[in-house]
Amino acid sequence: MAIQRGGFSSRLGFILAAAGSAVGLGNIWKFPFEVGKGGGAAFVVMYLLFCFILCFPVMVAEIAIGRNTQRNAVGAFKALGYKGWSGIGYLGLASGVLILSFYNVVAAWAFGYFIEIVTGHFDIGQRFGEFTKDWITVGAYSILFMVGTAFVVSRGISGGIEKAAKLLMPTLFVMIICLILYAVTLPNAMEGLKFYLVPDFSEITPAVIYSALGQAFFSLSLGMGALITYGSYVSKNDNIVTSAAQITLIDVSVAVLAGFMIFPLVFSQGIETDGGAGLIFVTLPGVFQSLGDVLGIVIGGLFFLLLSFAAFTSTISLLEVPTAYLVDEHKVKRSKATWVVAMVIFIVGIPSMLSNGASEALSQFIMLPGAVKSLDFMSFVGLIANDTFLPLGGFLISVFVAYVWRKHRFNQELQIGAESLKGSWLQSYVNIAMSYICPVLLGLIFLVTVMDKFFGIKLLEKIIGS
Ligand code: PHE
Repeated sequence: MAIQRGGFSSRLGFILAAAGSAVGLGNIWKFPFEVGKGGGAAFVVMYLLFCFILCFPVMVAEIAIGRNTQRNAVGAFKALGYKGWSGIGYLGLASGVLILSFYNVVAAWAFGYFIEIVTGHFDIGQRFGEFTKDWITVGAYSILFMVGTAFVVSRGISGGIEKAAKLLMPTLFVMIICLILYAVTLPNAMEGLKFYLVPDFSEITPAVIYSALGQAFFSLSLGMGALITYGSYVSKNDNIVTSAAQITLIDVSVAVLAGFMIFPLVFSQGIETDGGAGLIFVTLPGVFQSLGDVLGIVIGGLFFLLLSFAAFTSTISLLEVPTAYLVDEHKVKRSKATWVVAMVIFIVGIPSMLSNGASEALSQFIMLPGAVKSLDFMSFVGLIANDTFLPLGGFLISVFVAYVWRKHRFNQELQIGAESLKGSWLQSYVNIAMSYICPVLLGLIFLVTVMDKFFGIKLLEKIIGS
């Protein structure tokens, strides 16, 4: 390749950076509240199934497309010779911009909470609404977060992204383990574990199914070209299928571990699990307070620091997608591209920042057909980007790989750096998933979600007659 794009310096570097992208607010903030909303262990089962059956093959496909072309999400399809399909890349850019625009706001809450807790303000949980309404403070923290993200991305792949992930990912893991060990010793911890681990399958409704799918895509950073982009920096000596399996496993484990940490804490306080976006922000500071000043500051500070770290390695990957696009396709200098994109996304995120109390109109932004209450702007953007665009992106990627790029070229790429893959059951599974399982299931669920969420038409209920 003529242009100097940089790349990961080692396989471990790639795995940690990609796992860093995957592990984020999605695992520690969103996963527990979705579990709480969606009926506990039944949601967990659906989520796990989707991760392994549908998402893992899509991840393999994204990395393969990226590595084969050594291009960003849009340029990759052009480089393969299918300019028309670069629409998938543009859809990915749009998803990335939308997701980062609100993700950065929640990351700012997490960081703000870290500061509040270490300065001993345990009552912040009761003041969650006030905190999110205070747009000046949240705005300041989100500028800080975006600047930090842009700083790392502007330094490139091995010098910025890889270094940050190598430091932050292991730290995060150690922190989670410490918090779990503490959480399970609390009174009522067992009740929490029961809610989390014993499934009641009557809880599986269509709504649970598509929020579990949206969650799986969001959590694995799939469907928007983040892994096409990261894949474009991967060496030809790496085994893509094994790497994807490891990234999936790390991400799923952190989500599952986060549940082991949160539910005992929530139940030990006798708090409801369906607290939505506020679940960890409202309930946890009280838990930390009950530990007394010193221990509360240490454990609570640790928790919100961990959340901020996890968010940080994800915001890096979200910003990298449009940055790589500008660098490759429009020959913009990396540092300039990074700062411009960061600024634009920050501005796009302002309505999300104001939609949690500061502006009445944005806090009750839209009443969708068939819904019981209105959605705030931030949740609306989440609905469009996470639950709609990502599965659509995944659907299109699988159709592209199976029917346009074709199996033989896809397999050829997978076999580079992985001699033993040829003829293995894993390769067969990924092939079958690309051709049949992913297009059919992802297409179907996409259709059902759109009809239900945006038009109030309950297709799935009609089909199964419930
Ligand atoms: N996977 C990240 C998380 O779970 C969010 C993300 C989505 C990052 C899409 C990149 C791309 O927090």
